[in-house]
Amino acid sequence: MTQDELKQATARAAVEYVPAGIIGVGTGSTANYFIDELARIKGRIDGAVASSEATAQRLKSHGIPVLDLNSAGELAVYVDGADEITEHMHMIKGGGGALTREKIVAACSRKFVCIADGTKLVGMLGKFPLPVEVIPMAQSHVARQLVKLGGQPVLRQGFTTDNGNVILDVHGLKIMNPVELESEINQITGVVTNGLFARRPADVLLLGTGEGVKMLTGD
Ligand code: A5P
Repeated sequence: MTQDELKQATARAAVEYVPAGIIGVGTGSTANYFIDELARIKGRIDGAVASSEATAQRLKSHGIPVLDLNSAGELAVYVDGADEITEHMHMIKGGGGALTREKIVAACSRKFVCIADGTKLVGMLGKFPLPVEVIPMAQSHVARQLVKLGGQPVLRQGFTTDNGNVILDVHGLKIMNPVELESEINQITGVVTNGLFARRPADVLLLGTGEGVKMLTGD
């Protein structure tokens, strides 16, 4: 199976986790496959909260109502992809630049279902550069602090987030303690969010493999 077929298979499996009501929907190529699957069962839900403008557009193109998070309240489920994930359900996200809204929607959701092809499962996070969303005027300050933490930050050229900020992609981190590093980076003045999702990890991982979709939990 190709990587795209594995993404599609995991997206299809995630439909089983969709309850009636309002769900949260992530961003990226795997989440896009999920939105396409969601369209088939759209009668089951009242609508979705989108984690990016791109996801909102795709949901709307399928006739799925896009709802405001502040009116939606707590969500039963959030479905999204990841750039890297460990067996402890800690993730790096933000390859598509939507990390802040993704983290907000995830924080408002009782269950986080991560959908990913097998290449995303890693022993240790950090090979994928860690995205950090930064207020533009703080870019140099934040970059200097990230160097002190052992990383090599690189400005994502020509990219502005949905929130009007920039992204520093931090290379060279060997992330032994993701919960601690997530908090530490968040303490740097000027950081909006970082792409470590460890304090609020996934609850379920649907991993697309050549032997089918495997379901993993952190327990
Ligand atoms: C978007 O900002 C990201 O967090 C995505 O969820 C992540 O990059 C996974 O994307 P793919 O499904 O395209 O690999």
